[in-house]
Amino acid sequence: VALKSCNFTMSQGWDWVADDYSSYLNPWGFDPRDVKVPAVIWQGGLDKNVPIQHGTWLSKNMPNARLELREEESHLGIFVNYEKEIMESAGVPTAQSFTCESKDEIERALDFFGAPYVVKNDGLAAGKGVVVTNEREIAFKHALDCGKVVIEEYLDGPEISLFGISDGFTIRGMEPAQDFKRVFDDDQGANTGGMGAYSPLPWAPTEIIKQTEAEVLLPTIKELARREIPFVGLLYAGLALTSRGLRVIEFNARFGDPESEVLLPRLKTPLAHLLLAAATGKLAEHPPLEWSSDSAVTVVLASEGYPQQPVTGREITGITERTDTYIFHAGTTSNSGRLLSSGGRVLAVTGIGANLERARSHCYEALAKITLAGSHYRKDIALKASINEKGA
Ligand code: GLY
Repeated sequence: VALKSCNFTMSQGWDWVADDYSSYLNPWGFDPRDVKVPAVIWQGGLDKNVPIQHGTWLSKNMPNARLELREEESHLGIFVNYEKEIMESAGVPTAQSFTCESKDEIERALDFFGAPYVVKNDGLAAGKGVVVTNEREIAFKHALDCGKVVIEEYLDGPEISLFGISDGFTIRGMEPAQDFKRVFDDDQGANTGGMGAYSPLPWAPTEIIKQTEAEVLLPTIKELARREIPFVGLLYAGLALTSRGLRVIEFNARFGDPESEVLLPRLKTPLAHLLLAAATGKLAEHPPLEWSSDSAVTVVLASEGYPQQPVTGREITGITERTDTYIFHAGTTSNSGRLLSSGGRVLAVTGIGANLERARSHCYEALAKITLAGSHYRKDIALKASINEKGA
């Protein structure tokens, strides 16, 4: 429900970025960049009103825009509890869960589900808010540290990431990818922001994109539109393919990393056209997404000490140009012509090839030439999938 709304007219012939609107909107006493103020800017002058997100170009093609303050804003990708509520209203399959705030509630929830325990911080935690463990003591301690916490049933089956691009009313699913969150081979060691990914997934059900669109992505954006907070942008669904069917593990409201480093090189549809269609409410008219049949494997080169205490400021050498490889810079900086590490995850090296095995070889050949003292990377990204692919 809109609390306030106002109309304003764009100056003919001027282009503005929505983020620059603060001074323009000051007469109404708020700034849409202020996350504490839920607001939707609707563009007018088209055949239907569609929401405009921060950073969208507003141009003379949108002569009449309307800005509304709202009672509710989307917390997808931020509050687990909010996501659960949206999923419940939308009928989206997810793990059964309890939101707990007291010691007593935490103990009851842990005992209700038993091991393995899944404990999620209810808020943004930069990928470090989830603990999955067989140790009740560890689960209990993490839950107490979080304050408000969501404790949920453990989902069996492989996990995949599937992104949808939404204009608020129509959503297009992208191909699925799988990422590797643990720091060491064989999924050992601490949880990280992601140590590697691959796509396509030869073992995934062929209907997975359609199924995810129908069971997860579309119902979710419809529910948000019904609440008058239409979602424009990238809806990241983390899914488990369980023995009882598809289940949502989490949502994020952004491109995922390192999944994007394997998806974007495979996307043949121009990304800019797709994003423009999403930003201007024209996704329904946009042709189906086209994908390369090539495989892509990305491996993250991490600094010594990552994820606990990454050592930065060391020189990186050996990056060469190859037609079968992309190097994405994540934690690098340049200093007097030298390339230095500046973060925990330093580079994502993506190999492209006719199948996963070739894509892996290209990726690992390029990685082997790169030097960064003390760095480490996983050697088993997409290994099992590439072996099984040959047997398929
Ligand atoms: N790959 C996990 C994430 O982007 O959150």
